Amino acid sequence: MKSKIIVTGGLGFIGSHTVVALHEAGFEPIIIDNLSNSQLSALDGIEKLIGYKPQFAQFDVNDAPALRQLIEESKPHAVIHFAAFKAVGESVEKPLMYYRNNVGGLVTLLEVMKETGLTDIVFSSSCTVYGEPAEIPVKESTITKPAESPYGATKQMGEVILKDNAPWCNTQCLRYFNPIGAHPSAEIGELPLGVPNNLIPYLTQTVAGIRESLTVFGNDYDTPDGTCIRDYIHVVDLAEAHVSAVKRLIDKSYQNAFEVFNIGTGNGSTVLEVINSFESATGLKVPHTIGGRRAGDVVKVWAETTKVENVLGWKAKRNLETMLRDAWNWQVKLSK
Ligand code: UD1
Repeated sequence: MKSKIIVTGGLGFIGSHTVVALHEAGFEPIIIDNLSNSQLSALDGIEKLIGYKPQFAQFDVNDAPALRQLIEESKPHAVIHFAAFKAVGESVEKPLMYYRNNVGGLVTLLEVMKETGLTDIVFSSSCTVYGEPAEIPVKESTITKPAESPYGATKQMGEVILKDNAPWCNTQCLRYFNPIGAHPSAEIGELPLGVPNNLIPYLTQTVAGIRESLTVFGNDYDTPDGTCIRDYIHVVDLAEAHVSAVKRLIDKSYQNAFEVFNIGTGNGSTVLEVINSFESATGLKVPHTIGGRRAGDVVKVWAETTKVENVLGWKAKRNLETMLRDAWNWQVKLSK
């Protein structure tokens, strides 16, 4: 029988790709999603890719009775916990909403896991915990910095909560760098609500004519072309990292109950390099202008990937052009 894996936020951008990767690796994903930042159409896309509609339960992870019932009925082997909000600016405006959903949701999930004897979890963390990194490339041992926003604080608190529960709970904590792209089939991808905050959806919407022009936030930073550097990673590579983490939990091959891994490619790209790479991958022009700096932006960050390669046995395979081509094909599909 296939091992069942609960995926909270399984209809979101990273969640939906992970559901597909879990199926491909021989697991049975069970999705929980409250549709607060996702759409049911993602379930149709998943069905097209895996050949059946996985079990889907629509409720909030703060709903302990619903969670308990689902876990008792389905007897999963592990949980991958994506369900959280992730917009930095919004978190400054509505901090309680972020603490309730991101911190409260995790606490509820852990309480129910403990009650039901479920001990294994993969947690979505972020390179935001490093702030402006003390060293580059960033290692898992690089010191974390005080959070710059409630969103960042919720990720740090999540890590602390999981660490404190290590006596009974086994965690694979994945610190994502900048996930972009979409499934190469263009059946699933990112579905930003309203005006996107992140670079790639804004860029693809601009090229699609939905937005007039992309503003590059600052070109006077201390980087080769003056624009900020990030470690962009293909969402399918990221999804596969979750499968490796789940296998490590199920095989009990971890060395510590709480383990943390950087999930990036190890390569940094500037905003202008992303624009150029998009243009050469697709042959399309990106209308853009240079604007002022965005408050709170980190100047440069990319991952040291030695630990994740050696210990988790995972390495990103897809390059920037592939990420951007897949992001564009998804945008074309959305715009139809
Ligand atoms: C942001 C968050 C990060 C969070 C992630 C997930 C900040 C400081 N960081 O990452 O904590 O985990 O989102 O949602 O907000 N850019 C432009 N023009 C745009 C949009 C972005 O030039 O219209 C630039 C940014 O200045 C940055 C790069 O593109 O240099 C990437 O930005 P973005 O996609 O928003 O990701 P992060 O800021 O890295």
